[in-house]
This record gives sequence, structure tokens and C-alpha cells, in this order.
Amino acid sequence: MTRLVVVADDHEGGELAAEIIADQVEANAASVLGIATGTTPLTTWAALAEHGLDLSGVDAFALDEYVGLPQGHPESFESVVHREVVVPLGLDPTRVRVPVSHGVDPHLAAAGYEQSILEAGGIDLQILGIGRNGHLAFNEPGSTLESLTRVAPLNAETREDNARFFSSVDEVPTECITQGLGTISRARTLILLAFGSHKAQALAAALEGPIGVQMPASIIRSHPDAVVIADRQAAALFGTTGADRLASA
Ligand code: F6R
Repeated sequence: MTRLVVVADDHEGGELAAEIIADQVEANAASVLGIATGTTPLTTWAALAEHGLDLSGVDAFALDEYVGLPQGHPESFESVVHREVVVPLGLDPTRVRVPVSHGVDPHLAAAGYEQSILEAGGIDLQILGIGRNGHLAFNEPGSTLESLTRVAPLNAETREDNARFFSSVDEVPTECITQGLGTISRARTLILLAFGSHKAQALAAALEGPIGVQMPASIIRSHPDAVVIADRQAAALFGTTGADRLASA
């Protein structure tokens, strides 16, 4: 079942998500966590750091990575995960994986990454953000619901959105390796975070529109254990009819 929790702001949302992660790790110190990058999870990492929980036994898998950035590029997700998650939370860097393809055929790297997730026993708790176009990880609209970790194109809107991390949009890679919607669906628990009015349209479509390839984030409604944590602005277009439908989904 999918639950929607509406919070006042991203700080309250981050605290709630951090509590769920902390409960998971307290129950199993060797949990496997799924990590999103971007702006959305930053308050979650900050709140989790406040908990002071020992996360050194946790395995973690990032959702995605650009293809084509040089190793060590500050905006590669490998660097971002290290800087924003591994160091502040005290994760063991040898247990944290990002789907990089340094010197390796990206298609092989993607297949190997999917295999690594399976070998780790699957992801216990996956943190997700949502794109303005409803993408989940870098599964753009049109991605199949069964898709696995693979090389995928980044569409123009996503590259524009992520241009804020680069000097210009031309520097944003055109391809990525992303966990697929099928990969994400296999995680035992999903937490989808959505903060800000720029996410309202996508969130309403994901939670109230048809479940299908045109709205990747809609897959969370087919998941047996998913929670959506949204602030009031992101939840603003979400109607009561949708809430009823969601509760029974
Ligand atoms: C990040 C990811 C993306 C982001 C989404 C929202 O690893 O896979 O799906 O979660 O683009 O990005 P922000 O949080 O920057 O708005």
C-alpha cells in the first residue's frame, strides 16, 4: 500500500524520512539502502546525521550516474554521494556503490550493477526524488515498468534542470546509467520525497493519473510498501478523490 504524508516543509519531511531510515538500520545494522542524489534528499541526510546512528555496517547503492564525466568530476554522482552522504553519515566507502563506467563499456557496467544489487540481497529501503516530468531515478517517461539497470538517454528537460550543477546545459551529459523501474520496484520499501511547488504537477499525476510508462513515478502505487512524503506545496494539486484512490491502491 502507498501512504501519503503531507508535511510542513522539507525539514519536517527530512526528519520523517530519517526516522524511517533509522528504524530500518536499528532493526538491521547490515541493511541495504538505496540513495538518491539531487536537492530533495539533502534534509534527510542532515536529519540522519543528527541521529548519530552508526551506519558503518550499511551497504548502499546509488540510483544513477552520468555517463561520460571524467572520474573525480565534482558533479558526478560518485563525487556527490561521497561528499553529501558517505562522509557526513559515516558510511563505509567500500560498501557504497554508484553505477560508474570508468574505462568499462557502460552497458556492461549497468548489467554488473544490477547483478551487484541482487548479490547484496536486494535493497531494503530506497529513497527517491521525483523529476518535474515524473521521472524516477533517471527513468524518463516511456521507460518500461520492468526495466532494469541500463544505459538511458537524459531528456532535454532533465538536462535543463540539472544544468544548475554545471556551468552550462551543454556540459550536462546526454546519457546515464540508471536503475530501472523494475529494479526500483523490487526494493522492499520505497520512500518518495517531493518538496516544492515545482513538483506539484508531477506528484499529482503520479498519484492520481494512470499508472504507466508515461509517468514513471506512478509505479510506486503498485508497490506493497511505499510512503510518499510531500510538503504542502508539492501536495497542493493533490485532491481528496485522489487521496481516497491512493489509500485503496
Ligand atoms: C537522483 C535522481 C533523480 C532526482 C530527481 C529530483 O539520483 O535519480 O530522479 O531524484 O531528478 O531531483 P532534485 O531532488 O534535485 O529535485
